[in-house]
Amino acid sequence: MNQHFDQYSPRDHQTWGTLFTRQTLNLQDKACRHYLDCLETLTPDLQARQIPRFTGLDQRLKEATGWSIEVVPGLIPVGEFFDLLSRRRFCSSTWIRSPKQLDYLEEPDMFHDIYGHVPLLMHSEYARFMERFGQIGKAFAGHPEAESQLERLYWFTIEFGLILEDGAPKILGAGILSSYGESVQIFNSPIEVRPFHIDEVLSHSFRKDVMQTTYYALESIDQLADSLDRVEQRLALVCAAV
Ligand SMILES: [Fe+2]
Repeated sequence: MNQHFDQYSPRDHQTWGTLFTRQTLNLQDKACRHYLDCLETLTPDLQARQIPRFTGLDQRLKEATGWSIEVVPGLIPVGEFFDLLSRRRFCSSTWIRSPKQLDYLEEPDMFHDIYGHVPLLMHSEYARFMERFGQIGKAFAGHPEAESQLERLYWFTIEFGLILEDGAPKILGAGILSSYGESVQIFNSPIEVRPFHIDEVLSHSFRKDVMQTTYYALESIDQLADSLDRVEQRLALVCAAV
């Protein structure tokens, strides 16, 4: 599938620009340095002026870390998702929300997929983590408990993870990076921030239909990458017990 860039309307580009400008200003003191640096590196292929062309982003990603964007129609089977990650391909939708949906979406649009997820794929350690996560997912796909534990890891790191900078939590996860409301709320409400601990994360069930109240803060991207040895170990035990 392709992006069909010419089919975006002036209103679509304007919506992208509004979201991009508002959130980039908002994130300056909230997002982690890794994200902000990667976002800057992707300019001018990723900027407020217009919806990004995936071909341009692909070129930048390939040069930096070998990743590329795979256009998907919506949710895809989890085995396919893991397989794409294991081959350094990140799934993205191509549709953009309407101006009435700036603050709330039921399913991710390209602002979430591209603005939230893609910049960090320029970061070499993060890129390696995502690839290995896909490889592990592929190896354990089809085991419901293993899939559920991997979903928790993804949820509490890639989507809603925090990371410490000089002792203060900053945003790492794409679900928060792409949400104006949640990125403001976590710094203005009594949320619980726990130190990242892989066994706890893998056992922590979550709800998708409400805003999070508990978040995990990593010490570094390395800590995230290093956790995958333990993940493999645990999943092997889970599957052996079935
Ligand atoms: Fe996402």
